[in-house]
Amino acid sequence: MIRGSDLAWTESGRGIPVLWIHGYPLSSAVFERQLAIEGFRHIVPDLRGFGASPPPSGALTIDDYARDCLALLDHLGIASTVVAGLSMGGYVALALRRIAPRRVNGMILIDTRSTADTDEGRRARAKSIAEVEAAGTAPLIETMLPQLLASSAHEVVSAVRSIMESASIPGVVEALRAMAARPDSTGLLSSIDVPTLVVVGEHDVITPPDAARRLAESIPGARLVEIPGAGHLTPIESPEPFNRAILEFLSERFGGSTP
Ligand code: MLT
Repeated sequence: MIRGSDLAWTESGRGIPVLWIHGYPLSSAVFERQLAIEGFRHIVPDLRGFGASPPPSGALTIDDYARDCLALLDHLGIASTVVAGLSMGGYVALALRRIAPRRVNGMILIDTRSTADTDEGRRARAKSIAEVEAAGTAPLIETMLPQLLASSAHEVVSAVRSIMESASIPGVVEALRAMAARPDSTGLLSSIDVPTLVVVGEHDVITPPDAARRLAESIPGARLVEIPGAGHLTPIESPEPFNRAILEFLSERFGGSTP
């Protein structure tokens, strides 16, 4: 049990730990192709209500997801780790760094941002909550799919659809509430003193390359990599160039396999 929840996670490999935190409304499965990155110990939780983790029993904040990840690290006896967060997972990664800076020895911020929601963004979240409560997640999934992916390749679209279908209604609703209420993390960026990589898909319409550039420019020494042709889900949409960028960064800054 992790903080009272029967949290599910995947582990693979040996070496410096890398904690991969998925986005919304996804699961650890979005990082399936990253488990092949050799020379590192990959830890990939399903956040509450997503993948194989049970639905949340009450309200959640982004800090709750971060504290779950910290408790998982405690459970696994891991003192510090590289934290890699995709989109909502990036919000969680920044929260984790704020709550427990010494547990984070590197950051990989993927298709994400440091800013809070705008008022318009919060209204859109409230509308999605009402829709999901009334009609389940199917309509939301069909609306979101084209926004998440630049590719219309059947294989990728159906893989992402099936990951989204594994999300529970309370998981989706509480994640929407948590994201709407999240604080702006921009003030934290200049204090990040660990190696940081920012990755963005060229055609990401949710957190566009301009936002990634601003994010990278605000973190001392951060490197920015743009993945050509990819949308918002670079790890699953363009796994080869994505993995190359990750392996190059991890190998250079933390040892492990050389590309
Ligand atoms: C995600 O991919 O995690 C979400 O699109 C992030 C968001 O809605 O802010």
